[in-house]
Amino acid sequence: GAGWPGLIEAYRERVEVPEGARVVTLHEGNTPLIEAQHLSELTGCRVYLKVEGANPTGSFKDRGMTVAMTHAVAGGIQAVICASTGNTSASAAAYAARAGLTSAVLVPQGKIAMGKLAQAVVHGAKILQVQGNFDDCLELARKTSAEYPVTLVNSVNPVRIEGQKTGAFEVCDVLGRAPDVHCLPVGNAGNITAYWKGYAEYASDGVIEATPRMFGFQAAGSAPIVHGEPVSSPETVATAIRIGSPASWQAALAAKEASDGLFSAVTDEQILDAYRLLASREGVFVEPASASSIAGLLDTAADGRLPSGSTVVCTVTGHGLKDPDTALAGMVEVEPLPVDPNAVATALELS
Ligand code: F0G
Repeated sequence: GAGWPGLIEAYRERVEVPEGARVVTLHEGNTPLIEAQHLSELTGCRVYLKVEGANPTGSFKDRGMTVAMTHAVAGGIQAVICASTGNTSASAAAYAARAGLTSAVLVPQGKIAMGKLAQAVVHGAKILQVQGNFDDCLELARKTSAEYPVTLVNSVNPVRIEGQKTGAFEVCDVLGRAPDVHCLPVGNAGNITAYWKGYAEYASDGVIEATPRMFGFQAAGSAPIVHGEPVSSPETVATAIRIGSPASWQAALAAKEASDGLFSAVTDEQILDAYRLLASREGVFVEPASASSIAGLLDTAADGRLPSGSTVVCTVTGHGLKDPDTALAGMVEVEPLPVDPNAVATALELS
């Protein structure tokens, strides 16, 4: 074989696909679970990062997309559509290309990170920028797929959740148990729903003895679940989770309640601090939305909501290269040097 076969093959008995289906895969999954030493010291916990930026298109969306696209092909579908803040569209574009399907992506105009747009372009998606936010795009995509022969591959399509639940399986397979707490960024709320489903399945089959508490973090300007009402004009630097009316709201609340978890908001400043800390101290470059799980980890550790001594997994959902603009915003411009070692030494204050 060719090593790790992708998650449908790896979790054959737990992720259902149609009998005899051709599996559409880019060998997603099997992402690193990295111990985070600095974060562990800061929080008094044992902290691990589930690094989903290591997936083929650089985010956790590939877990759901391999399953959605495998179903689409088996069903004889020709075209798929999604609404996206960028990562779903990047993943849909790549997996559709692999499957030989047409993909259309509806994205909020001017509000998706450059790397994600580049992915949709290069994989040949039909990119439709919409004069509206993600919530408007999702409504449009739903209506279009209801009336025209095109399949919706957003996480309102339940097979997406089936793929994404494997993130929880992998965590347990590596740790030999579930963590005490699992921290996730929350936007449309599909991923926290999926992780909880994965943990619950492992627990009911006796693979793990206990399930973790699910901690979900939203950006303060886009925190409908925290506030208990939709946000009509969501705002945040973390464009991936700039969502005011999450589709999986009720399922996410159910996960919180069943797991004795919590939802909490983190400010853009906390998100960017966590983003820089992860990159500079742990060597892990994530996109801003992903850093909200770390911002939430630090916030809940500081005020005691996160018990010290806990084993904690934080899913960092997307790669930092997705959003080069945010990374480069902190860059100081310096004059180019002459080709001269003395100039280099002077610039580095070596002498
Ligand atoms: N992190 C990243 C990097 C994301 O792209 C998303 C969602 C989330 C977290 C939140 O996950 O929606 O399941 O609660 N991105 C979607 C998209 C909305 O269109 O790519 P969620």
